[in-house]
Amino acid sequence: MSGARGPAAGAGGGARELLIENLAEVATPRGSASLAGAAQGRVERIADGEILCRDGRIVFVGTAAERRACHGALPDTPRLDGRRGTAVPGFVDAHTHLPWSGSREMEFAQRLAGRSYQEIAAAGGGILSTVRSTRSADREAILAETLKRLGWMLACGTTTAEAKSGYGLSLADELKQLETIAVAARQQPVELVPTLLAAHEVPPEHRADRGRYLDLICEEIVPEVAARGLARYCDVFCEAGVFSVDESRRVLACGAAHGLAPRLHADEFADSGGAELAAELGARSADHLMAVSERGIAALAAKGITALLLPGTSFFLRKHVWAPARRLIDAGVPVALATDCNPGSSHTESLPTIAQLAVIELGLSVEEALVGLTLNAAATLDLAPEIGSLEPGKRADVVVLDAPNLFHLAYHYGVNPVRSVVKGGREVYRAGNLAPSFEPT
Ligand code: NIG
Ligand code: FE
Repeated sequence: MSGARGPAAGAGGGARELLIENLAEVATPRGSASLAGAAQGRVERIADGEILCRDGRIVFVGTAAERRACHGALPDTPRLDGRRGTAVPGFVDAHTHLPWSGSREMEFAQRLAGRSYQEIAAAGGGILSTVRSTRSADREAILAETLKRLGWMLACGTTTAEAKSGYGLSLADELKQLETIAVAARQQPVELVPTLLAAHEVPPEHRADRGRYLDLICEEIVPEVAARGLARYCDVFCEAGVFSVDESRRVLACGAAHGLAPRLHADEFADSGGAELAAELGARSADHLMAVSERGIAALAAKGITALLLPGTSFFLRKHVWAPARRLIDAGVPVALATDCNPGSSHTESLPTIAQLAVIELGLSVEEALVGLTLNAAATLDLAPEIGSLEPGKRADVVVLDAPNLFHLAYHYGVNPVRSVVKGGREVYRAGNLAPSFEPT
């Protein structure tokens, strides 16, 4: 990103500005669309970079010398001291199950003792256990738990997150979750993009006649959610023993007819043709893909569908099976990364942790992982023209890492490297304060 960029100096006129300065490095992909194949690792790294924000947008990214030449000394502009850290685009978590109530640590303990996720689910635990706790929780309780998770997300550098329903599984309870997302979005800085996931599981009251539940989704839940503007996307858990390819196609077609674009949990534990269905429907993403077939990979590549990989589930479920990230990249499929934040299969809000798993276990380079957490994730939410890279014109969503260069994002594992988070040109989070009562001896 050599050379000066953005409008000339002196916009003045009461503009709200922020200069992020004294950075060791700015590291960012470029562009307004997903990057695939060799371009998946295309990250620009600018030594001694600065970022100038004005009225919530980025107006300049480049070296300090270029900024002075283009914008002058900017004596009145507020500064954020980067303290020789590294600035990257705000992370985009494009697959989360955010608004639930309750926790499942005893199932986790059972898994540690050898039971599988599927065995626990078949015995009435798993997703249905969280459906029970979310149905019985009042709105205030779900909101409080959701806000707490959002606090963790922000502290870990997430500035935009997708958030799915799917623990309600009735019209009233799906609406309760989606309305909680809408309220939470107004009460904290992380921007939320809501997804309807009524087809996450068949609820107990419809187990004897699953067709009735699919009718309920298509005839009542989708139309009502769309009419109220409570979701932008429709998702289905397409998996052996959950929803078949034909059932998933029906729900996603219905969602699309109501303006909810498709995304899909595909081929998580078994290859059921989920990736092929995602390609057929032009889904925004095919997610999980631990068991995707070569045909599925070819179908995603042919349609340019993004593979949204969730290595937290392989890790947390102790599957020792990882999505074939390198084969996907080599086939030209854009790869994005997300937490899958949920109480069963991936209990984390931390995208830096996901980056560490992606590098160590999926075999991505650090640059490929950064693109997966930012631009490619933003593209699955139709937000790549707005976020996902640090470029003039985009929203000023910036994470400053306590790291001398990008590589420390994965190299320094098991810690949270995020020092500051800037959302829309304002610093909204800063880490690492000692308690005021501490006195050095
Ligand atoms: O994405 N795969 C389906 N849904 C979640 C798990 C949800 C749960 O266990 O509560 C997932 O892994
Ligand atoms: Fe999921």
